[in-house]
Amino acid sequence: MKEVIFVITMLLCLKLATSDTAQAFYYTGPYVPSYCFNTQQNGEKIVKLGNRLWNEHSCGNVYKVWCKSDVTSQPCTDPRGTTFGEIVEVVGPCDDCNGVDMLLSQSAFFNITTSTVPFEITYSRLL
Ligand SMILES: *[C@@H]1O[C@H](CO)[C@@H](O)[C@H](O)[C@H]1NC(C)=O
Repeated sequence: MKEVIFVITMLLCLKLATSDTAQAFYYTGPYVPSYCFNTQQNGEKIVKLGNRLWNEHSCGNVYKVWCKSDVTSQPCTDPRGTTFGEIVEVVGPCDDCNGVDMLLSQSAFFNITTSTVPFEITYSRLL
């Protein structure tokens, strides 16, 4: 029994530690209405997903996104981005998203980077 609990705990930790990379940029809104929440206000901790990441269960999923701090060429606003980053909720699809995987709100995007062009972020799905 102990072994089973240990293995399950290890798997959960692995899942939480899993991160991926995606091309990201921002959109300027309007943020309301949204595909997932219609006229409900969800603030600006939000993201729209492109075809590679979006599916019909994506509404309300929560992602942590951050700027890779291990690559010195990355224009990270927060060099400790692996610890902090932004937590954003999925508010809808953006189809081809102008060629990126994620469109963050403008303020979420500029909270993790100074980049004025699409760039590669690291993300992890939390919920
Ligand atoms: C961006 O950072 C500011 C200052 O820390 C914070 O007030 C704001 O909520 C952040 N925006 C988002 C979308 O998280």
